[in-house]
Amino acid sequence: MEKILVTPILALNQLGTESAFEVLARANMLMKQGQEIINLGIGQPDFRTPHHIVEAAIKALRDGHHGYTAANGLQELREAVSEDIKTYRGVTIDPDLVMIVPGGKVTMYFAIMMFGEKGSEILYPNPGFPIYESLIRFFGATPIPMPLYENTGYAFDADEVLSLITKKSRLLILNSPSNPTGGIVPKKQIDKLINGLSSFPNLCILSDEIYSRMLYDGKKHISLLQYEHLHDRLIILDGWSKTFSMTGWRLGYGIWPKNLIDHANRLAINCHSCVNTASQFAGIAALKGSQIPVSKMMGEFEKRRKLIVRELNQIPGLKCPNPGGAFYVFPNIKDTGFTSAEFQDMCLTQAGVATIAGTSFGHLGEGYMRFSYANSTQNIVKAIEKIKNLLKSL
Ligand SMILES: Cc1ncc(COP(=O)(O)O)c(C=O)c1O
Repeated sequence: MEKILVTPILALNQLGTESAFEVLARANMLMKQGQEIINLGIGQPDFRTPHHIVEAAIKALRDGHHGYTAANGLQELREAVSEDIKTYRGVTIDPDLVMIVPGGKVTMYFAIMMFGEKGSEILYPNPGFPIYESLIRFFGATPIPMPLYENTGYAFDADEVLSLITKKSRLLILNSPSNPTGGIVPKKQIDKLINGLSSFPNLCILSDEIYSRMLYDGKKHISLLQYEHLHDRLIILDGWSKTFSMTGWRLGYGIWPKNLIDHANRLAINCHSCVNTASQFAGIAALKGSQIPVSKMMGEFEKRRKLIVRELNQIPGLKCPNPGGAFYVFPNIKDTGFTSAEFQDMCLTQAGVATIAGTSFGHLGEGYMRFSYANSTQNIVKAIEKIKNLLKSL
């Protein structure tokens, strides 16, 4: 019989992946084989979705809300997002510019698709969320890494970023607080960057603000929405996954410029139609209901952050800066003499601790590791003790 070989488009070979999912799969496999694994690799809060949010979804289903909604989401949800933005960012946004999507990633996908044609350049943080670079390559654009520096709390240098912009640059991706570093870009650098951007009026900006409610030491989030003159070329990515511990609900939103919202809407119609309706009702309850669970979760993360930074700094060869946000730390491991990949492998297979190599977030992540502290204090202490003992024994 003739063997038929189906070949998909070549660009698929450019698609990268998110190592957190791969490490999770390996960790699960080892656990199935009976090994004890402590997971400090995972990028999702280890808290349950607050009760009132779960109840709102159940009620929506019981009330018969099981059909499609408008592609851009329920009006009441988009209005709630707009109110939330007024409360936490102090900016008025037309609910018609809000697009509800199945998770934060979808806004990223649409934005990079809109500007990622062949021949164009897209600037993105490196180390940064791996899907930025993956999608830039997939759509045929050239990825231009924007380095983040350990000695400034993993901020970019605005002068350097401006120097990387060329006539081909179409999109600039920012992410603060950041995954994987937990770093926050100081206002001074953002102001400088935004001032400089006035020389590049055709450059669109995607500000990934998914960790906007996860800041420590009383720091206030600086949203790019606060720079109102940017609104006609600014896309905001945010969602419920991290703030409300709702990663599996697949609920996110984008705020789009007026001239792009219709494109985003048609992409949604062509792609997913709408977000599942019960999740959208849950999203309304999350934004309008009690915010105490969010404060409690952040209180717990704050304690763990202090603990993990202190413990990691006691391991010879590791230097761990104190991050300003999210729930990750990004220690420098260069003095141990191991590469990031070797360190990740050793931690998982010999110490039973899942962590993620800095290189999973771009080549500039070599010599660093990402630890997530979305795990109990007991497990954090135990995991670091295991890594300490492993390094001592080598
Ligand atoms: C920086 C950043 N942006 C976007 C996302 C995607 O979020 P979601 O799970 O809502 O798609 C993540 C998830 O880890 C992230 O870290």
